Amino acid sequence: MRPAFLLATVLSLSTAVATRVHAADAAPTAPARTAVHAAHLLDVDSGRVLDDPWVLVEGDKIVSVTSGGGAPAGAAVVELGNATLLPGLIDVHVHLTGDPTTSTGNYYQDALTAGPMDAAVMAPTFAKRTLDAGFTTVRNVGAPEYIDVALRNAINRGLVEGPRMLVATVPIGSTGSHVDETTGFAPNIEFHGVTGVANGVDAVRERVRENVKRGADVIKFMASAGVLSNETSVGAPQYSQAEMDAIVDEAHRWGRKVAAHAHGTEAIKMAIRAGVDSVEHCSFIDAEGLKMAKQRGTYLDFDIYNDDYILSEYAKLGVPQAQIEKEKLVGRVQRENFRKAVQAGEKMAFATDAGVYPHGWNGKQFAKEVEWGMTPLQAIRSATINAADLLGWSDKVGSLKPGYYADMVAVDGDPLADVGVLEHVAFVMKGGRVVRALQP
Ligand code: ARG
Repeated sequence: MRPAFLLATVLSLSTAVATRVHAADAAPTAPARTAVHAAHLLDVDSGRVLDDPWVLVEGDKIVSVTSGGGAPAGAAVVELGNATLLPGLIDVHVHLTGDPTTSTGNYYQDALTAGPMDAAVMAPTFAKRTLDAGFTTVRNVGAPEYIDVALRNAINRGLVEGPRMLVATVPIGSTGSHVDETTGFAPNIEFHGVTGVANGVDAVRERVRENVKRGADVIKFMASAGVLSNETSVGAPQYSQAEMDAIVDEAHRWGRKVAAHAHGTEAIKMAIRAGVDSVEHCSFIDAEGLKMAKQRGTYLDFDIYNDDYILSEYAKLGVPQAQIEKEKLVGRVQRENFRKAVQAGEKMAFATDAGVYPHGWNGKQFAKEVEWGMTPLQAIRSATINAADLLGWSDKVGSLKPGYYADMVAVDGDPLADVGVLEHVAFVMKGGRVVRALQP
């Protein structure tokens, strides 16, 4: 970057910050009213399309949703022309602290030269890309060094622009598990810092308490082996039933929901039996697992876009071939099982594992969900009302209704005819503030 350009950037950034602080100081006596108008609005609850909708926003909440009748008095109008409005999108499985665009192309160089401080520097950029893509709420299910807590808090205070976040802090896993960073490294290699590695019922309970103490909204643990880590299995259970039971019991006592990473058939069932709120990945789920999830109302979160990205890009990032071979074992069968889960009428939420692929590409999973058995409306619900339900935020986000946060996106074209339009949202509002304006 040339110095003059750098200076100009710094100046414009400081002006932007100053303006925002000034606006907050001004504290207007009456909350600002904005009326958002478009050609259509998809009511995700009923599945119906409302024509000529007006969404009246006061402060950060929706006041009313009406059809026809012209602009409400005393409101600034945001005119979206021919677009279709939908609730802000929700991704229940992201990692905003990393993504492949920062890779040097050498796995070991990345592992040994990039630390949590690098992740913390990049996280706001990834948060902004996610928000610009229309994802106004995310659940971050794993980050180093409580970076997710700091990011969530900065976003909530308006210091950083990004989606609403629920955060898991460090994922919990056994020695040698999907969270144990030194698996596959020489025995004399150690990484310093906060670790989620914990073994035995007392230690896992302590780890849950520590995560809650540090700001976790949700608890994440590794029920099975994973793809992008160096253990040899991709689905073997990595905790005993007693350990999984203890994690869930402790987390629920503290009022935190639990997300379990599980690819393997048995690990999925153990996690469901332990009482987790969602199973992530679900690759090798069998008929019994589907039945158990259905009975207990456990959410099944399949990240079915990932396989395309990993198989086409990860060799170029220098990722060990053994990991890519593990991906080949799960990719196709995960999609086939996604279809079975849809047919079985399981509870399913939109979970992409963004961070495995570039942030901001979250919307690419909609078309995959439709390709593998969902209707466009089901896919949209997975990222709105269903996701909100899993997060415990059904009264706040995921619908365009009075009292809800004014989080919305607009798309060109009919999302019920072509869900792919959600890959390129044209407009984003979060909490009543336009974060991405319609381009003329
Ligand atoms: N984080 C997951 C893991 O490493 C990613 C799995 C991606 N593959 C897939 N087919 N969903 O296990």
